[in-house]
Amino acid sequence: MIKINKKSFEGYYKKSIKERQEILSKELLLTNEEQKLLEKESSLSFDIADRMIENVIGTFPLPLGLATNFVIDEKEYVIPFAIEEPSVIAAASNAAKLSNGFITENDEQIMIGQLQLINLENACESKKKILENKEKILKEVEKVDPILVKFGGGPRDLKVNILDTPRGKMIEVQLLVNVGDAMGANAINTMLEKITSVIEEISGGKHVARIISNLAIYRRTQSKTIWTKEKLEESVKGTMKGEEIIERILDLYEFAVATPFRCATHNKGIMNGIDSVVIATGNDFRAIEAGAHAYASYKGKYSPLTKYYKNSNGDLVGEIDIPLALGLVGGAIKVHPIAKLNAKILGLKKVQDLASVIASVGLAQNFAAMRAIATTGIQSGHMKLHAKNIAVQAGAIKEEIELVAQKMIELKEVNQLTAEKIIEEIRE
Ligand code: HMG
Repeated sequence: MIKINKKSFEGYYKKSIKERQEILSKELLLTNEEQKLLEKESSLSFDIADRMIENVIGTFPLPLGLATNFVIDEKEYVIPFAIEEPSVIAAASNAAKLSNGFITENDEQIMIGQLQLINLENACESKKKILENKEKILKEVEKVDPILVKFGGGPRDLKVNILDTPRGKMIEVQLLVNVGDAMGANAINTMLEKITSVIEEISGGKHVARIISNLAIYRRTQSKTIWTKEKLEESVKGTMKGEEIIERILDLYEFAVATPFRCATHNKGIMNGIDSVVIATGNDFRAIEAGAHAYASYKGKYSPLTKYYKNSNGDLVGEIDIPLALGLVGGAIKVHPIAKLNAKILGLKKVQDLASVIASVGLAQNFAAMRAIATTGIQSGHMKLHAKNIAVQAGAIKEEIELVAQKMIELKEVNQLTAEKIIEEIRE
């Protein structure tokens, strides 16, 4: 077991990338091959990476694939996914192929900034005074970013809540701002810091937190589509009636409504697709995940982010309603060369186009998983695509990989042991 000597990493951030790699290599006794891996530059150069995060020693490439067949608001898309998991792209592409196309709606890009006040003599009195000065405060906010205001963004409202906490009464001031095509964290946090003294003077309170909220309930996107019983029946080559598939999907959906244990995986299935496109476009997937799951619990019970029902035709309607705090300006999308390329592949003009794509991908991903579970079971499709990975893990090389994968699928035994046996037979 290699023991790290933390002294060797003192002042690590002041070293060059090369020096950091050497220190790591010496401390961890890296092999030549491992050192070469670290030193190998990808499409994200070390120079750019070194400006994006701290203590850079290399980059961590992920597979980048395209989901196909998507028609969103009557526009055709191929959608870049950055993800390590097999079958996610196939599933999204299949769901899009089986759909009638996605129609979306977007809220304004309104983000919430929170300012926390403590040491209040009389919280009700303070709340009243802040609200009496709302217009004055919002005028102060406008001065912070006149360009944003010029392009239609800027402050929209100020809300004040009194919170009873074990540490006494607090006030939460919510500043609502249209942040334009940015995710908005920098703009909001700057605005909050600028108006703190004004609000402290008015309220007599003392600030603690001044920070954006990731529960972006005023910045949601809805997407909706129909999957017809005919297309569903075709998708399983007639082995199951379309009506029956729809009934089983509705049973599965209500199961997720009824228990958080299923609901967590239901929503994870949605985020499989959402995170892949969020990462591929250089956005903050932690912010998206936090906002999505917080919104899923917002009405008091952790619930599905999608909903399904039958229309008068007996076809399946799917809808998603989800907060999406995304940026087309300001974040890594302007710095990371592949994120820029992916934005070009999507032909993005404004951030709400990206939100429409991502919400539709989440709905498609969720439907695909439910369709698979409700019909053939998740493993048949998933393992069909995973078989190649298993073959490689078992030691298959070059053309053996396809042969071993095919043989395992025929045998319906996709596992390492079977793969090793098939490799032995092939080599004999
Ligand atoms: P299938 O019916 O065997 O597919 O399903 P197919 O061979 O008939 O092809 C249909 C379409 O799927 C194709 O159309 C492609 O669009 C796409 P075509 O181009 O032939 O006209 N497709 C592919 N795209 C790229 N590469 C491929 C490929 N194969 C098909 N190799 C399929 C196969 C995997 C699509 C299906 O079984 C499926 O959708 N499975 C669901 C898999 C899934 O959801 N994976 C996500 C990871 S599992 C998870 O973590 C989420 C979960 O836990 C969430 C939850 O519990 O709700 C399940």
